[in-house]
Amino acid sequence: MGQIVVLDQNMVNMIAAGEVIERPASVVKELMENSIDAGATKITVSIEDGGRKLISVTDNGCGMDGEDLGRAFEPHTTSKIKTSKDLHGISTLGFRGEALASIASVAQVRATSRAKGQDGANCIEIDCGNKDSISPASADYGTTIQIRDIFYKLPARRKFLRTANTEMGHIAEQFTRIALSNAPASNKQGLDLTLIHNGKELYRLSDKDNLHSRITELFPIPSSGISENLIEAESNEKGLHILALMGKPSISRTSKKFQYIFLNGRFIRDKFISHAIKEAYRGLLEPNRFPVVFLFIRMRYEDYDVNVHPTKSEVRFYNANLVHSQILGCLREKLLGTDLQTQAQLPGPANFPGSQGSPPAGHRSQAIADAMAEFFKKHRPVQTQEQFSYKSKQHLVALRPPTGQVTESPTGPATAFAETSQAEPEIRPEQRKFLQIHDSFIVVQTDDGFDIIDQHAIHERIIYECLSRRIRKSKLESQKLLIPESFEVTPSGADALKTNAELLEKLGIELVPFGPKTMAIQAFPTLLSKADPLDFVQDLIDLLESKDVNLDGERLLDEVLNMAACKAAIKAGQRLTMSEIEQLLLDKENTESASRCPHGRPTTIKFSISDLEKQFKRT
Ligand SMILES: Nc1ncnc2c1ncn2[C@@H]1O[C@H](COP(=O)(O)OP(=O)(O)OP(=O)(O)O)[C@@H](O)[C@H]1O
Ligand SMILES: [Mg+2]
Repeated sequence: MGQIVVLDQNMVNMIAAGEVIERPASVVKELMENSIDAGATKITVSIEDGGRKLISVTDNGCGMDGEDLGRAFEPHTTSKIKTSKDLHGISTLGFRGEALASIASVAQVRATSRAKGQDGANCIEIDCGNKDSISPASADYGTTIQIRDIFYKLPARRKFLRTANTEMGHIAEQFTRIALSNAPASNKQGLDLTLIHNGKELYRLSDKDNLHSRITELFPIPSSGISENLIEAESNEKGLHILALMGKPSISRTSKKFQYIFLNGRFIRDKFISHAIKEAYRGLLEPNRFPVVFLFIRMRYEDYDVNVHPTKSEVRFYNANLVHSQILGCLREKLLGTDLQTQAQLPGPANFPGSQGSPPAGHRSQAIADAMAEFFKKHRPVQTQEQFSYKSKQHLVALRPPTGQVTESPTGPATAFAETSQAEPEIRPEQRKFLQIHDSFIVVQTDDGFDIIDQHAIHERIIYECLSRRIRKSKLESQKLLIPESFEVTPSGADALKTNAELLEKLGIELVPFGPKTMAIQAFPTLLSKADPLDFVQDLIDLLESKDVNLDGERLLDEVLNMAACKAAIKAGQRLTMSEIEQLLLDKENTESASRCPHGRPTTIKFSISDLEKQFKRT
């Protein structure tokens, strides 16, 4: 018995009309949402040529009988709402009864479905709105919908489609959103999800993993540092259940791209919620940085209206102030109660506070801790001018105070060796002290102890921040190489370079053909003068080739800047002069998120003198 009814004209008018299908990714979204509404536990999405050639979605949901299958592609047909009252408490992802009709009017569609309990499946083909009759088919329970040659009768819209990689990036983003909102949880079964492009499996997400492991799988790039830098907050008050996984300030981004907000399983964009997130991080981030946040909100369906926008990604809260204040309160409280600095974990006697259960420090940091403890034991307190006479022997130097503000000179902030500031560091009266050990770490005395700074990691962060700031303003400044450096390039490498021509231009890298399979680097960014151009470009090609379909422009740029910063930064094992160290520390003071390197690893480990005193049984 069919479930679908044709809505009366009154209802049709109530549902705002609009463009649902903008590009292949919108089709993927609508089809996956239909599968979820059909109670599927497993969905497989298979794409060819970025969705231009084929979009196929198979689910194991409730399926449709022949009658429903015929009706599903008619305009304004739905099984999800029946009367206007139902519009005030929509619990399904779809309800407008227009997605399949819209899709079928702009492409070739073949849909096969078998309802639970039915002996056989049925199949229907529709070519840009022209329906064939239903025919029997053989298939398992569930539904498969295949969309071919989208917009093929609408050249203007087909022309609007971007490259397969770009379209695939949009599809991967839609898939990611659905995967995040349907991760397994203690009270909910997750969805088993697969995304395939041109026969290659891009994602295979099991219904057995959990939200954290799903985030790791969806954002696998090690340098994204996302999954290992999340703080969890939860609250359940005033009819609002909030679960937030908040990125530490150190992994903030330059756009809101990594803010995933879900309301009862639906990905939404909402200005009140965005504002609450921004407010929660106030003081922890520079105004032009955006935190990474995964926010899952549950509330009564009756407390908001989803019939606001054709793509259903905007809602209207009946009590937006409450939503705003609950989210702000939950996030802010957790952030303020979390120590976002990296503290040293000193191993020690059993009675040493915090030692139980804490992982032992690594071999190297143990050695450093021992060396420093010894140093402070001998020389504490190192505060007066007389004691400062170790200076030459102990490699101790004075450092000028932090300015507390970013020095954005005409040439940009100082970046130690990438772009050395000409200013002679001043010496403040109450001098601070530092020394380099093992040519890799800088130890700096602080007011209440000392910091150990990883010279490579901190320099990476400094360069990364500088590059990001510059590149978002305009392209990077570059200089011509005296002798162009040539290199061999594979056809796919050349293709990757061509696809990302805009990115190369922004980076200030100029490449010219130099023979059939050869290219030459003509210009290279000034800021990366410490990196080897050939080595950099070759690694860049590898990165572009490997990341082709999974990243959108913003994420790719971030990846490239990470790589650039890593290559241009001073290395571990590199001896630094006193003024170089001084400059590095000065730049650190002026760098946002200096406590972490761009990969999310700590740049600085703090040791407090009171902990050391306890270690030495002085207290
Ligand atoms: N994969 C599926 N399995 C079972 N039934 C489906 C499936 N896809 C669609 N249907 C049926 O077809 C109907 C029409 O789907 P369609 O996507 O056009 O509208 P909708 O989901 O009701 O609303 P919306 O336009 O907001 O998505 C659905 O209401 C549902 O009954
Ligand atoms: Mg739908």
